[in-house]
Amino acid sequence: MKFFLDTANLEQIRTAQDMGIIDGVTTNPSLMAREGITGEKNILDHYTRICEIVDGDVSAEVISTRFEGMIAEGEKLASLHKQIVVKIPVISEGIKAIKHLAKKGIRTNCTLIFNAGQALLAAKAGASYVSPFIGRLDDTGQDGMELIYQIVHIFDQYDIETEIIAASIRNNNHILRCMEAGADVATCPLSAITGLLNHPLTDAGLEKFLADHKKLNK
Ligand code: G3P
Repeated sequence: MKFFLDTANLEQIRTAQDMGIIDGVTTNPSLMAREGITGEKNILDHYTRICEIVDGDVSAEVISTRFEGMIAEGEKLASLHKQIVVKIPVISEGIKAIKHLAKKGIRTNCTLIFNAGQALLAAKAGASYVSPFIGRLDDTGQDGMELIYQIVHIFDQYDIETEIIAASIRNNNHILRCMEAGADVATCPLSAITGLLNHPLTDAGLEKFLADHKKLNK
């Protein structure tokens, strides 16, 4: 299982890369806006900077919702760096764009997936990744994890190579349950990944080790 960092924040990407715990990065227009990145040149430069920091795939999302626009944006994004994966929304024009880009050897991540049918069509069109959103489904009272189990089962049954990125992850429990379910990737905020390190007995144990050492080593 791989971890992607779900952020456009360069400092957090550097921190996670230095810890050796991430295999890539995912971004979206909201995450880019959160960093105050605006204007085409700045946005493209920012994606290049992310690629230079992280070893692994970097998802960069198109803004257009029309086939021609997605193709043009997708080709421009893919030409920035070999690590770029073009993120495309799961709408009919997007599915067509995924097919077109796949034929040209451009990798895509189909985003905003909320049911297994959407994941299946994206995979059929040749998406490299699909991104089902767990947390946002949970927010509506549904169980986002159920969707991960369902997509994993369907993709396994038909040997579909498209990788499943469990997205919209809110906590450590989501991450562990994604691992149980067999998702290929979990894309998470840094706090959710580093949160896996936390246990009160680890803190208490370390405190005692250091205190015992100090008693005899003044
Ligand atoms: O990158 C897409 C996804 O992870 C968004 O998460 O927390 O905005 O629902 P969230």
